[in-house]
Amino acid sequence: MIVLGIETSCDETSVSIVQENKDRGKILSEKILSQVKKHQPFGGVVPELASREHSDSISNLTRQVLNETNLNLNDIDGFAATTGPGLLGGLLVGCNYAKGLSIITNKPFLSINHLQGHVLISRMNKKINFPFLCLLVSGGHSLILLAENYNKFKILGESIDDAVGEAFDKTSKLLGLSYPGGPLIEKLAKKAQRREKFNLPRPLINDKTMNLSFSGLKTSVRRIIEKNLSQSEKADLADEFQKSITECLLKKVNLAIDSSKHYEIQDFVLSGGVASNSFIRNQFKALCLKKNINFIVPAKSLCTDNATMIAWAGIEKLRNQKSGDSLNIHPQPRWSLESI
Ligand code: KG4
Ligand code: ZN
Repeated sequence: MIVLGIETSCDETSVSIVQENKDRGKILSEKILSQVKKHQPFGGVVPELASREHSDSISNLTRQVLNETNLNLNDIDGFAATTGPGLLGGLLVGCNYAKGLSIITNKPFLSINHLQGHVLISRMNKKINFPFLCLLVSGGHSLILLAENYNKFKILGESIDDAVGEAFDKTSKLLGLSYPGGPLIEKLAKKAQRREKFNLPRPLINDKTMNLSFSGLKTSVRRIIEKNLSQSEKADLADEFQKSITECLLKKVNLAIDSSKHYEIQDFVLSGGVASNSFIRNQFKALCLKKNINFIVPAKSLCTDNATMIAWAGIEKLRNQKSGDSLNIHPQPRWSLESI
């Protein structure tokens, strides 16, 4: 089975062709066109600009992946597109393009939830049995969830305000750095010398739920930055910010592992753009070792937004439900994993 995936929910236009290969998946060709430079002057993603960029590049990227694989449209068994959550303009571009390809080839159209793509991508290269636990940390979402099957997810905890990636991006802006902030804060934190001197809060760390909160942390960072920090103090602050976030995430995932013992969970999956952070990866690896549970994290290139995860989720869907989705499905800017 070969599926072509399209991702246009935010500021990356991506098209990928993935082939099912003995229950796992093989990337035949993947293209990702980042719009980061276009949005950088505005300090965040401008929706109108994003949808225009997606619309301008989607055909070329599709032609490129087909040329690179020597496949033509009729060789593809299904066309998968992100249909939410995300920015409506971008979702419409990708969703309608996939529907068009599905109509002219008479092959299935597959409507994929972007978060489902992030959660399932780890299964493309490794056998991971359901149910498994997952921490999904991206620019728009921070979720601790139980993946019960390819299409059924139970949210155990989530951020009640800012998502982790959003907190990184906002803090980066406060520190005078650019967008996206996560990789820049990670880099700055490596230069830290005097550790733990700002007493940043660990919001909700002693709360009994698995929910998270990061907006207070950002406010504390703002107050500290107003004191005009030196370059080396900024590095210390970036380091402490990263540690504070990680401690909160570790505490809540620890709770999730303990509270789901009856499911006999064997695997913990870290996913989403923030999962490409090496410090966070290492801390979770250590936690899983201590808890005697397998630690799985995708390659960094598969943590941030990409169409391979959409194509792979399409393969999982097509092999389970055997047919495509209705062409009457419309993109949903807000779409919880629990209501798939
Ligand atoms: O999953 P993703 O590519 O897009 C969304 O679905 O939101 O995640 C993007 C987020 C951004 O907020 C970005 O700052 C963050 O992931 N991010 C990181 C790192 N790389 C990307 N955060 C912390 N450390 C990183 N190395
Ligand atoms: Zn994402």
